[in-house]
Amino acid sequence: MDTYRIATIPGDGIGTEVVPAAQEVLERVGARFGIELAWTELEWSCEYYARTGRMMPEDGIETLGGFDQIFLGAVGYPGVPDHVSLWGLLIPIRRAFRQYVNLRPVTLLPGISSPLRDVPAIDFVVVRENNEGEYSEAGGRLYRGTADEVAIQESVFTRRGVERVMRYAYDLAGSRRGRLASATKSNGIIHTMPFWDDVFRELAAEHPGVETSEYHIDALSALFVLDPGRFDVVVASNLFGDILTDLGAAIIGSIGIAPSANLNPEGAFPSMFEPVHGSAPDIAGTGRANPLGQVWAGAMMLDHLGHADAAEAVMGAVSHVLAETGVRTADLGGTASTREVTAELLTALDREVAAR
Ligand code: NAI
Ligand code: MG
Repeated sequence: MDTYRIATIPGDGIGTEVVPAAQEVLERVGARFGIELAWTELEWSCEYYARTGRMMPEDGIETLGGFDQIFLGAVGYPGVPDHVSLWGLLIPIRRAFRQYVNLRPVTLLPGISSPLRDVPAIDFVVVRENNEGEYSEAGGRLYRGTADEVAIQESVFTRRGVERVMRYAYDLAGSRRGRLASATKSNGIIHTMPFWDDVFRELAAEHPGVETSEYHIDALSALFVLDPGRFDVVVASNLFGDILTDLGAAIIGSIGIAPSANLNPEGAFPSMFEPVHGSAPDIAGTGRANPLGQVWAGAMMLDHLGHADAAEAVMGAVSHVLAETGVRTADLGGTASTREVTAELLTALDREVAAR
């Protein structure tokens, strides 16, 4: 038995519904592959904030540092400003644990209809810089509430930060179909983005087997819709990657499916696995949330832990449910509940394991 200590943070809204669903699936696959997941649930959330004035305790990062990995649902709820929930929990975790790669697969699974007409095979990965860039605390607001009010927001791009995420993306492209696209905007953003481009080109010399291309973010967004089949790996800054991956989730059928891994590739710290979606207050409590994004994030966690076979079994079950059964949630055009999809997944998983 390989045992892992996993901290779960279900968070808010549908996070508290899809995390237990995914845990059930991971438990089942774990039992079949000799993986023991020792879960510790942390109640950190907007509700916790309402009670304590903090999204997590003062020693929250220290607490998390004692775990092997972190499995997160979503945080954010009406009544707490989104920048408070994000900067009080998610961003500190991503930064303290140097989770500088945010890996977001954009794969059209069998049985799902994309909103795009004439859909090619869609199978690429966005590597989003996750520790710096446009999401920075540098800046401020002056003369609040007056006619002279000024807001300044600085971006931070460091050579170390840009090189490490790009190296990861180059290596990933090298292990896939050998094509890497960079998201830039060096026509309009004249300091950070030309720097981003310089590093991208410097590293190309170290990776002669990888074919590179560069796109301005606006044109790149259009190509995600018009010709997504051309992409293999896309590397993007924190903000650009964030926006591109909601678009990526849309073209693969639903934000309810898309997964996300916040990786510390060196393994010096825990990594964190979560769906791309948020807490969806509009459907929270109805039992209709799609659990597949959380389940897929769980498969990425198994893969990161070195259990590619177990991860494949989970994804095999997901594909089976989507392609061979009509059991799906409303975001995918079905009528099933979170529970019904989870039950179907467990059945498919048993079948998947038996077939191996
Ligand atoms: P959202 O992803 O929560 O919801 C967008 C739309 O997609 C909604 O109509 C929702 O019902 C639907 N949706 C999302 N996940 C779904 C699922 N699993 N199954 C079925 N439908 C699903 O994004 P929104 O509305 O912008 O944000 C809501 C809250 O979540 C905010 O407080 C925001 O800050 C937070 N948020 C948190 C994130 C995180 O914890 N990583 C990421 C994105 C948003
Ligand atoms: Mg986002």
